This record gives sequence, C-alpha cells and structure tokens, in this order.
Amino acid sequence: MFETWWKECVVYQIYPRSFQDSNGDGIGDIPGIISRLDYLRWLGIGAIWLSPIYPSPMKDFGYDVSDYRDVDPVFGSLEDMDRLIAEAHERDIRVILDMVLNHTSDQHAWFLESSSSQDNPKSDFYIWKDRIPGNRKGLPNNWYACFGGRAWTFSPQRGQYYLHSFLAEQPDLNWRNDAVVEALFADIRFWLDKGIDGFRLDVINAIVKDETFRDNPRMIGPTPRPYDMQRHIFDRNRPEAHAKLRRFRKMVDEYEDRMLVGEIMVEAPGEPEKAASYLGDGTNELHLAFDFTLLSTKWNARAWRNVADRWYKAVPESGWPCWVLSNHDMPRAISRFGGDVGKAKLAAMFLLTQRGTPFIYYGEEIGMPDIKLPRSKFQDPLGKKYWPFHPGRDPERSPMQWDGTEYAGFSDTSPWLPLDTAHESLNVSSQMDNPASLLNFYHALLALRNHDSILRLGTHRFVSSSCDEVLTYVREFDGVRELILLNFGRKAAVCALSDAPTGSTMDLSAFRILFSTDGKTGGSMNLLDNGRCLLGAHQGLICRSDT
Ligand code: GLC
Ligand code: CA
Repeated sequence: MFETWWKECVVYQIYPRSFQDSNGDGIGDIPGIISRLDYLRWLGIGAIWLSPIYPSPMKDFGYDVSDYRDVDPVFGSLEDMDRLIAEAHERDIRVILDMVLNHTSDQHAWFLESSSSQDNPKSDFYIWKDRIPGNRKGLPNNWYACFGGRAWTFSPQRGQYYLHSFLAEQPDLNWRNDAVVEALFADIRFWLDKGIDGFRLDVINAIVKDETFRDNPRMIGPTPRPYDMQRHIFDRNRPEAHAKLRRFRKMVDEYEDRMLVGEIMVEAPGEPEKAASYLGDGTNELHLAFDFTLLSTKWNARAWRNVADRWYKAVPESGWPCWVLSNHDMPRAISRFGGDVGKAKLAAMFLLTQRGTPFIYYGEEIGMPDIKLPRSKFQDPLGKKYWPFHPGRDPERSPMQWDGTEYAGFSDTSPWLPLDTAHESLNVSSQMDNPASLLNFYHALLALRNHDSILRLGTHRFVSSSCDEVLTYVREFDGVRELILLNFGRKAAVCALSDAPTGSTMDLSAFRILFSTDGKTGGSMNLLDNGRCLLGAHQGLICRSDT
C-alpha cells in the first residue's frame, strides 16, 4: 500500500503471552494472533511486532532464547509462524520479530558447550573471565546486572566467571568474536528467508563491552537499585557497536524492504542523541531507534514539545524518527495519565500526527490500564526482586480485554496473569459499539493517517502558541499544510499562533477542521478576534489549509 512501509505504517506491539489464547492453557499463542488479524486490519495497523516467540525457559518470558530458529511450544510451531506470515501479508500487515542478540538463555546449546570447559569450539562465544585474587570476591570488575546482583556469575564447571547484563540465566554473547556474529546472522537469515519483514533489536546498544572491562563510574541514580547507581559507559554504548550495526544493515539490505528498529537502553529519563546515533548517517545502521523519554515525561504541553523537539533534532537529516507511548517494560500511558480518556485521546493524536513511525502497544487503543496484582501473583523477575521499589512489569502485561465474558474473550480458562478487574466494561467489543470510545477514536485517526500523505510524509515544524497549555505544529507536503493543536490543559484555552521565521500571527481562517477529539469534522475553527482561537479542555484538532 505504501511506498516505504516502515516509514508510513503504524506498528502494533503484541506481547504474545497476553494477546489471544487459542488452546485453553491460559497463555496467548500464535494461532490466537492469527485469529485477531482481521481486528488489526480493521484498526488500520500496517505491521505487528511480536515480543519473542522462540523456545525459552521463560526466566525472562522469552527474552532468554534457547534456540533462535524455532518456536516455543507454548506459542505454537514453525508452521504456525509460516501461517501467521502468510495470513498477515494477505491483509497487508508486515511481521516484525523481536531479536535478542545481546544474550541467550543459559540453556542455549552454545552456552551449554561454552560453559563445559575452557577449551571447546564455543569457548569464546560468551564473555568469560578469571577470578581476580583478593579483589571483590575475585570479581572481574564492578558491573551490576540490571535484574539484580553482580553482572558476573561463577561457573564451577568451567572455573571462570561469565558476564550477564540481566539475569544469571541470560549470559551475554561475545560480539567481539566474529564466529558469534556469523552464527547470529545465520539465524537471522533463517527468518528473513521465511519472509519476516523486520526485527526489533533488544538492548542493541549493549552488544559490545569495553575491551579492557573498566569499572563503570558511580553516580547518584534515579532508584536505589545498584545497577542505577552506575553510569553505564563501559557495558553499553561502546563505539565498536556501530561497525557491527553497519555490517548488520548490509546483510539485511541484501533482502528487499526489510527493517531494523532498535531498543537503545540509556540513562533515565532518556538520551535521544545517543539513541539517534544508532541510525548512523540515517542510511547505514538501524532504520529506526526508540527514544523512551516520553514514557516518563509529565503531562505538560511544554515538556512534550521539548522532548519532541530534541528528538527531531537528534535524528539525522536522512534518518527517520519513530514514536512510542507504551511498551512491555514501562507503565501504560493511560495509567500514567490517571486513567483519563481525554488525555489518552490527546496523546493518541500527538502520536499519530508526528513525522515518523508510530508504535502502539496492544490494548493502548482501548485504554487498557496497568493491573494491580498481589505479590503472590508476580511473574516478572524484576518485580520479584525489587518490590516494593519496583512493582515489576506484570502490570502492563495483562491479557487483552476483548469482551465482557469471564476471561475477557482472551481464553476460556484463568489466564497466566490476572485480568484487569474492569474488563467487563472496558473491552474491545463494548468500545466497538460506542462511537465516542477510545477505540473508535484510534480507528478513525488511523484511517485518516493511512489516507493522508501529509500526516505520513510531510515536514514537521513547531509553531509558537500564545498559550502555554497548547502544543501546536504544522505538517506540510506538496504545498498543503495541516495544523495540529493540542490543548493539554484541563480548561478551555484561547491562543494565537505565530509561525517562524516571520513571527507574525498566523491567519487561521484558511484552516478547516479535518478531525477533532470531540468527533467534529468539517467547518472552521472556533475563531475569536485578533487571530485567536478557542479550544475546549483536552481538545485536539487537525486542520488543513489548501493555500
Ligand atoms: C529489553 C526488553 C526487556 C528484557 C530485557 C532483557 O529491555 O525489552 O523486556 O527483559 O531487554 O532481554
Ligand atoms: Ca495457548
């Protein structure tokens, strides 16, 4: 449908365990996803990204891969994946897989072999170090693991420490060993050959470690977790990673029309310039990189503008931004907004009118909130370790709420994580029947974007608004302008706009309303004297001027 699908389409992230169960074990699976493709097509989604579906001991729910070329039986089979690819493509939906390349599971054949002795064909596939006598229990350096404890675990069998940036069951691969890179690329080709359209690359800025394993400097961190009390300059973002990504991009470019989007793990609340650096010159490393700053930015027009402005400036001229409000690692947007559907609509309008590829996290379109669950029901290792400082990531991974039945249409049995208690009223089916619902709002906005090349491809520039609460910008393509106004405030707002470089007041009378958060389309804006306009509380407008 689009010329460059990964720039123009909206991507939908599926957490496979929680999307749709097809065989009554309470866990979502691939046949379940296939059965919901028509829904995604209706919604206007152009690509799905699946969190990992490979065989895994599930210590980190799939982010600990034990075989990159197969499917975990809990999710289905390779045949199911082939069917998913074919059925998605039939509906013009691309399929993106999650690739976890920084580490494997400790049950991966490579690690079993590598840890068996100091001298075996896979001995350099992971990062092994001798005990240092007399020093910090002999630890090789001061690095911590993100999920608790030191980053080094001793293997009695091999008589050495191995490095793990996350759980001890997730040993880090040695990307300085070319044989590792070749082996991973061969596994990636396996999926490219099957017709997978792209990959989301897990913590891709951590693949290369400091050559001499220097200690990370200490700092006062955002949380008391030891991992957060260090600056990760030697275990992440090493300059050598860029050459690896350039090689990766070359390999992927041998195939037609494939895409790489990277998760760049940076210091909180975000380092957009660092994220953007993995786009290389905009054409030779990743196609897209996530900046997560907005996932912890408070609700405020100025703050959102500053974050977006910095991100736009960070992305290289020939690169392409992408945008995200929620994912499987952070509290959901609607819960950050205190459950306010008005804010959720405004945020959706922000997300879907930026220049760049928007990513939607499953359930975001119905305003599914984070669930509250008792500690006895915790699944996520992060929550188990760090509660109450960190509730873990279970709250944002609850089963999709399809309808008002006992198990929300997700399964016919009690699911692996509890359902949101409000699922009886908050679900896809009830929102489909309600024209004013968040779901129908997303549906209409996606339809607009999918048919509007100005929103998909136009340039973007902020215009100044005389009211602090109102965020305003212009998109422009082929001489046609669209003006977006977002009132972040709880009260009605009056504002005049001035467009750089002249700084003169913009003439708003030429603009017609294309789309509004209150459902109004057509007609002119609510204009007052002196070029000012009136917006309702949390009102957002998309307006077009043909002149
Ligand atoms: C990424 C994933 C997260 C996972 C971690 C380790 O941050 O998004 O879910 O736990 O990497 O693979
Ligand atoms: Ca299942």
